[in-house]
Amino acid sequence: MPESTTPVTFPPAFLWGAATSAYQIEGAVREDGRTPSIWDTFSHTPGRTAGGEHGDIAVDHYHRYRDDVALMADLGLGAYRFSVSWSRVQPTGRGPAVQRGLDFYRRLVDELLSKGIKPAITLYHWDLPQELEDAGGWPERETALRFAEYAQIVGEALGDRVEQWITLNEPWCSAFLGYGSGVHAPGRTDPAAALRAAHHLNLAHGLGTSALRSVMPSRNSVAVSLNSCPVRPLTQDPADLDAARRIDDLANGVFHGPMLHGAYPATLFTATRSITDWSYVQDGDLALIHQPLDALGLNYYTPTLVSAASAATDGPRADGHGSSMHSPWPGADDVTFHQTPGERTEMGWTIDPTGLHELIMRYTREAPGLPLYITENGAAYDDKPDPEGRVHDPERIAYLNGHLSAVHRAIEDGADVRGYFLWSLLDNFEWAYGYEKRFGAVYVDYATLTRTPKSSAHWYGKAARTGTLAP
Ligand code: NOJ
Repeated sequence: MPESTTPVTFPPAFLWGAATSAYQIEGAVREDGRTPSIWDTFSHTPGRTAGGEHGDIAVDHYHRYRDDVALMADLGLGAYRFSVSWSRVQPTGRGPAVQRGLDFYRRLVDELLSKGIKPAITLYHWDLPQELEDAGGWPERETALRFAEYAQIVGEALGDRVEQWITLNEPWCSAFLGYGSGVHAPGRTDPAAALRAAHHLNLAHGLGTSALRSVMPSRNSVAVSLNSCPVRPLTQDPADLDAARRIDDLANGVFHGPMLHGAYPATLFTATRSITDWSYVQDGDLALIHQPLDALGLNYYTPTLVSAASAATDGPRADGHGSSMHSPWPGADDVTFHQTPGERTEMGWTIDPTGLHELIMRYTREAPGLPLYITENGAAYDDKPDPEGRVHDPERIAYLNGHLSAVHRAIEDGADVRGYFLWSLLDNFEWAYGYEKRFGAVYVDYATLTRTPKSSAHWYGKAARTGTLAP
């Protein structure tokens, strides 16, 4: 089909944003009373991250936030999603808040508001205070209770000026990469612990949502960001369909089931019976988790393709989640993950905007009436400055164009998508991959920390200012 030349125009109120997270950009890990999080410990443990890289300095956003906000304003962005570092505002994960920590976020928010940029806060983007991990971490119920207290502290401090709130970012990664495959902090490889963690993250979301609502003006919106992904069967063979359904339970249903419908998929219990008895799901938990939400955030990168029958693989996992020998999919050792066909980004993730459309339409059906935001979408490429110091990244422009067009198509098909947050504003610390994978629309020279907007930043800024994708 020939490409359409009609401009693709979004609704006037559509939010054009960019996203980051605290540990990936802030640095200043020992300043103003901050204590270590599990990512400080993990990244300083030999062999855990590429080249032993860590977020001690990251891109020094803690000291350069004013310049970074100015950059966003220059580009014309309307919104900025960032996360609060729990260890900065409540150092050991318990007890009173540290004013200096909260003040940093207050200054950041005020700077954003002064430039007309809407702040969206993520409370938890993977950086659990180390002391809470030492006490058992997400597999323990206590961590969910601590999260609710932390949510209340931040809600009280910033609820007057921040309208958009996200409890958790991608709880799947916290549970299954953190406690299952071990490629993320805290690096544990225990499938039973991963499932317990999933439940307590769900509980944290529910308790955190109620805590936020108890202290914030009712106009504020509370959401969660899920890395839900379309799970596709390799063939229509019943065994492959069953494999896809089981992975869908583990990737998606384990979170959206309780959060949106107040129930875990019954098939998830059956499939994981030999690993856990789920006895930690207490009476009343599902009602606590199933809080009405004001919006749902979707983070999308690539779909998942599976078939039945096991296959021993060496090297990078075909599920795109690192190179661990341990599976992040409890109870699904008999499922094989396949590379989806098509071009890939530097992460090895296939570029497939149809997956984003599919996902949006799925949640439009699953949660009718719930506004959706794409809280992350973007691509890593091997960007390098040219001799004049400019950074051309036409692949990223094509990626963003393709995915934003898919969002637009979904809106035309009846989906209520209210905004899009590009991942990421800046090149940053890509977790276990270190600094090598560059997701930023803005290039960061890691030697000098200077920022240079890539051509994609200019392209995206124009889309944000005009509400239209250039044909
Ligand atoms: C999802 C995560 O939320 C973010 O922290 C990460 O950098 C991007 N995906 C890219 O992997």
